[in-house]
Amino acid sequence: MELYLDTANVAEVERLARIFPIAGVTTNPSIVAASREPLWDVLPRLQQAIGPEGILFAQTLARDADGMVAEAKRLNNELAGIVVKIPVTAEGLAAIKILKKEGITTLGTAVYSAAQGLLAAVAGAKYVAPYVNRIDAQGGDGIRMVQELQSLLELHAPESKVLAASFKTPRQALDCLLAGCEAITLPLDVAQQMLGTPAVESAIEKFEHDWKNAFGNLNL
Ligand code: E4P
Repeated sequence: MELYLDTANVAEVERLARIFPIAGVTTNPSIVAASREPLWDVLPRLQQAIGPEGILFAQTLARDADGMVAEAKRLNNELAGIVVKIPVTAEGLAAIKILKKEGITTLGTAVYSAAQGLLAAVAGAKYVAPYVNRIDAQGGDGIRMVQELQSLLELHAPESKVLAASFKTPRQALDCLLAGCEAITLPLDVAQQMLGTPAVESAIEKFEHDWKNAFGNLNL
C-alpha cells in the first residue's frame, strides 16, 4: 500500500518521514494556503523532505481545461515526477484527457461519487481521490462510495488506483484499506492518532518496571 501525508508543513514532513513508511505528500490549495509559504517555494522543499523516491502531489487552480493544462505543464516542468491533481469537473475531465496524451500524470480530485471517480480514471487519471469525510459530513456514506469506486476501477480501469482522502479518523482510513484501496492520504493529526493509543505507553512502562524490579537496571 501507499501511505501519504496530506500537508504542506515541511518541518512535520521531515520529522514524520523518519518514522512513518510514507510514499510521499499530497497537497491542495487550502493546505498550501495554510502553510503561508508561496507554492513555488514550498513544493521544492516538500520534494526534498520526501526524497527522490517520494511522490509529491499538487493541485491546479484554474477552472477551465486550457488553464488547468497550462498549470499542470508548469508544475510538471518545474518539479520532476510531480503528480498533478485536477478537480473532476467537466473542464477537469477534459484536462485529464489532454494531460494523459501529453504524458503528464494526474490525480482526479474532489471526487464525491463513484461515477465521477470512474470517469476520471477512464479519462486517464492514474489516481482518483474520493473525499471520504466530506461525503460523510454531508450525510452520505464515504466508505460505501469508496467500496463501489474500488470495484469499478478493478473492473473497468485497472491502471488507475483509488487514493482515498479526507479523513478525520483512523477508522475511516482502515475501512478504505479493507475495501481494497491501495493508497490513502492522512492529515497529520490522523497519522499521529494511528500510533497514539495510551495503552502502548503503559504496556512499555510495565515491561520496564518488571525488568528493573528483577535486575536493578534497564540494560539488556
Ligand atoms: C486530497 O486530495 C484532499 O485535498 C484532502 O484530503 C481533503 O481533505 P479535507 O476534507 O480534510 O480537507
